[in-house]
Amino acid sequence: MVPRPIGWISSLSSDGIANLAPYSFFNAVSGVPPFVMFSSAGRKDSQTNIEATGEFVVNMAVADLKDAMNRSSASFAPGVDEFARAGLEKAPCHNISAPRVAASPVALECVLNSIVPLTARDGTKARSEVIFGEVVGIHISDAVIVDGMLDITRIRPLSRLGYMDYAIIDEVFPIARPTETD
Ligand SMILES: Cc1cc2nc3c(=O)[nH]c(=O)nc-3n(C[C@H](O)[C@H](O)[C@H](O)COP(=O)(O)O)c2cc1C
Repeated sequence: MVPRPIGWISSLSSDGIANLAPYSFFNAVSGVPPFVMFSSAGRKDSQTNIEATGEFVVNMAVADLKDAMNRSSASFAPGVDEFARAGLEKAPCHNISAPRVAASPVALECVLNSIVPLTARDGTKARSEVIFGEVVGIHISDAVIVDGMLDITRIRPLSRLGYMDYAIIDEVFPIARPTETD
């Protein structure tokens, strides 16, 4: 599946240590009320923290932050502040305790809704579990709003392709929905 959006997930451990990691098995799955999901291949620190605290942030991974995003994917020990290791400032959220990435132009505050394990038809348990979150707060930087609308060419979202490849969205064009007579 390409391109895939990258959910750059921040969370807090039960000891209050900030954690940050990218997940590209990620998407928005409902608008009203808003829900997102990501899938964790094995029990990683993000899932452990989210189960412990019931909350997480989806930060938008953008072109300008690609190196920091990549650094945050390294496998750090649970007690390590991954914002510090990625060279990123934290910013507070309004409705949850987990911090967001200050430099990311868009962030979604999420509350854990459910975690769904996946089991194949033959009973094989998948390594991955899917984590669903309800969005309870949205941050958008004024710097990416033009005439009251988000300007994607200012945001330049990063997406994941196959292999070790990524793409940057920096060209946008509209297509009108067809009517019955078109
Ligand atoms: C662009 C990108 C996308 C990734 N997507 C996923 C994913 O969807 N699921 C997953 O389990 N790991 C994914 N990873 C790997 C995790 O980011 C990595 O295992 C990380 O160390 C997990 O951190 P945590 O233990 O702090 O949660 C991805 C890595 C990169 C660089």
